[in-house]
Amino acid sequence: MNDKVLKVVFPIAGRGTRTLPASKAVPKEMLPVLDRPLIQHSFEEAVSSGFEQFLFITGRDKGAIEDHFDRHPDLEQALSDKGQALAAIRDFIPPPADISFVRQQEPLGLGHAVWCARHFSAGDPVAVVLTDDLILADQPCLAQLLEVQAELGGNVVAVMEVPKDQTSRYGVIDPGAGGSETVIPIAGLVEKPAPEDAPSNLAVVGRYVLQPEIFAELARMEKGAGGEIQLTDAMARLIGKMPFHAVVFEGRRFDCGSAAGLLEANLAYGLNDETFAPGLRSAIKEFL
Ligand code: UTP
Repeated sequence: MNDKVLKVVFPIAGRGTRTLPASKAVPKEMLPVLDRPLIQHSFEEAVSSGFEQFLFITGRDKGAIEDHFDRHPDLEQALSDKGQALAAIRDFIPPPADISFVRQQEPLGLGHAVWCARHFSAGDPVAVVLTDDLILADQPCLAQLLEVQAELGGNVVAVMEVPKDQTSRYGVIDPGAGGSETVIPIAGLVEKPAPEDAPSNLAVVGRYVLQPEIFAELARMEKGAGGEIQLTDAMARLIGKMPFHAVVFEGRRFDCGSAAGLLEANLAYGLNDETFAPGLRSAIKEFL
C-alpha cells in the first residue's frame, strides 16, 4: 500500500438534470468556466495538488470528456502550421498510462460510482473530486486536505458552513470534541438531513481523501437517501475505526451543477484573471 495519496477519482456519471437544457447534448462537465471546460478546472486542481494517476467514472453520453483528455494530432498540426501555441490543447493532457476511464453502467448513486474505482485503488487511498463543486482558492482545496491527511491519517473531507435551511441538499457532519476551528474530528455523518434533524450546519462539499477500507463498505450496496447508494453512508461506517476529519477549507465554492452557480463561477473566475478582468469589469459597469 502507498501511504502517499497519488490517485484521484472523478465520478462524472450523473445525469445533470439541473443544468438542462445546456447539458442535453453536451456533458455538464464540458460547460465552460471562463476559457476551459469545468472538468479541466478540477483536473488542474488535482495536478497542482500533486496527484499522478487519474480515473474518470463516466456514463452514457460522456464521450466528449474522453476526447477532451486525448491528444488531437490534426488540430495540433493545424495550430503549429499557423504558428500558434499548442499549450491551450496540450499542456493539461497526462500520459496515456496515467489516465483511465471506467463506465458506471447505471447511475445508482455517488457511492456506487466511487465503488467502480476499487480496482484503480488496488489497496491504496484515493481522493475523490466532484467536478460540480468548483473551488476558487489560493491553495488548491485538495492540497489543503492532503496536508491534514498527512498529519492526522485516515479519511479527510472538505466542509463549509451552509444556512441551516439548506442542510437537506448536503451530507452534514456531526462535529466531535477536540480539533480546531478548521480541522474538526467527525463523530457522525448524515446525508440530506431536514434542518431540524441536522447535527450541524457544516456540509460536505466534493473533495474527499479516503482510505481503501471505503470499498468494502460500498460493496454492501445499501441504498440510502433518494434510493441511491450513498458515499456518505459508507463513510459514516468508517467513523470510529480510523481517524476521520473535516477541513473547513479556505476558498470559495461554486455549485456548478446549477446554471446560477455556473454564471457566478464565470464572473468570479473572470474577475480573478488578469487577461479577462479589465474588459469584464467595464462590461459589468455598462450593464448595471
Ligand atoms: P448529483 O446527484 O449531485 O448530480 O451527483 P447529477 O446526478 O450529476 O446531476 P443532477 O442533480 O441531475 O443535476 C454528484 C456527483 O456524483 C456523480 C455526478 O456525476 C456528480 O459529479 N454521480 C452521481 C455519479 O457519477 N454517478 C451516480 O450514479 C450519481
